[in-house]
Amino acid sequence: MSFMDLCRERYSVRQFDPKPVEDEKISQILEAGRIAPTACNYQPQRVYVVKSEEARAKLSTVTRMTYGAPVVLMVCYDKDKSWKNTPQTFGEDYDGGEMDACIVGTQMMYMATELGLGTLWARGFNATQIHDVMGLPENVCVSFLLDVGYPAEGSVNHHTPRKAIGEMVVEL
Ligand SMILES: Cc1cc2nc3c(=O)[nH]c(=O)nc-3n(C[C@H](O)[C@H](O)[C@H](O)COP(=O)(O)O)c2cc1C
Repeated sequence: MSFMDLCRERYSVRQFDPKPVEDEKISQILEAGRIAPTACNYQPQRVYVVKSEEARAKLSTVTRMTYGAPVVLMVCYDKDKSWKNTPQTFGEDYDGGEMDACIVGTQMMYMATELGLGTLWARGFNATQIHDVMGLPENVCVSFLLDVGYPAEGSVNHHTPRKAIGEMVVEL
């Protein structure tokens, strides 16, 4: 499938088949994230694979955004390892960790799509609650969840309409 076809094919899946995702597919998804570009190549991303019944149940105590997915990738970054702009370098504070995590997540999301899997990118939760309940190290920040699994039979593509290109693009 061409990249443009993958972009058109992908939609947010909120109804997953309980069927497990093959380990080989999970490995390929993680590999796509591993080779993502990051600021200054610092690679601060940390991806926690929430797969066991016990871990998924724990995560579900603080968020509904897992939608019963057989695998949830908690995409995080190590704030001690990420690139920072500082007042001394570019005149302002900026932590690149969140952006790095999003690029990693995007590559994993499209890898999963190519493998015939459905995904949901979710950030509607309290990150501190997830951090604490999952027992993450102090320096690790939760960026978002990427739910992964086979779409359930009744899963509907709710690909919501997009704005016209003219509303997005401004030529200067
Ligand atoms: C940063 C971000 C956060 C999101 N958070 C949630 C969420 O917490 N729960 C949810 O059901 N969908 C969430 N979504 C999915 C969006 O609602 C969805 O991508 C958007 O409506 C477009 O639909 P589509 O993905 O089917 O094309 C999120 C998407 C993004 C990019």
